[in-house]
Amino acid sequence: MDRQSRNCYLDAMGITGWVLSQERQPADEEYIGEDQAGIAGEAPRQFQDVQDLSSVEIAVRGCKACVLHQSRSNTVFGSGSLTATWFLVGEAPGAEEDKQGLPFVGRAGQLLDSMLYGLGLNRDEVYVANVLKCRPPRNRDPMGDEVGKCEPYLHQQIRNIQPKIVIAMGRFAAQSLLKKTDPISRLRGRVHEYEKFGIPLVVTYHPAYLLRSPLEKRKAWADLAFARAILENHG
Ligand code: URA
Repeated sequence: MDRQSRNCYLDAMGITGWVLSQERQPADEEYIGEDQAGIAGEAPRQFQDVQDLSSVEIAVRGCKACVLHQSRSNTVFGSGSLTATWFLVGEAPGAEEDKQGLPFVGRAGQLLDSMLYGLGLNRDEVYVANVLKCRPPRNRDPMGDEVGKCEPYLHQQIRNIQPKIVIAMGRFAAQSLLKKTDPISRLRGRVHEYEKFGIPLVVTYHPAYLLRSPLEKRKAWADLAFARAILENHG
């Protein structure tokens, strides 16, 4: 992307005067079948280690572990590069995502694209997924049991992709990935570790929040710049 188009995206983010750089890597096996995942009310079996990503996707498609399967049009597994350096995690699909079966395709997704372009990245160079794979009705907050039953899928995705950095977007993603209850203000601005895998994790605001609070975009940009600096320092 040339500098002029990048500056357009940075403008959309409310950011001026930024310069960039970039980089990236892959993964492994085993899973539970669709029939095993698809029993209403039953939690997905904890994955032993890493399972094949397409098997995980098939399991998600047939998942009936929580009530959300009753109201979904489509499951939203995640999308992007299977060798992505950046793995971005949102909360749950919205109406448009539920319709298309893809993550971040609505207005929040457009802002996410702008944020990525600001880093010199396209959507297909990163991997994007949500904590929940099904839309909560009327976009209500995810319930604890829904998160608990869906989280193992996300962990399998991260283990498969083996990103160099994980970005948790918003309170739900941050608290769920870090298994903490701290407010987002306390989780931002420092490097966490994704589980015990040594993958750095940075917390930022959710793009939907930034649409409602555009003045916070600068802070989100600082978070992404911080994440990039971490990547650069890790080589
Ligand atoms: N918000 C999210 O958290 N995820 C999406 O996929 C869309 C909106």
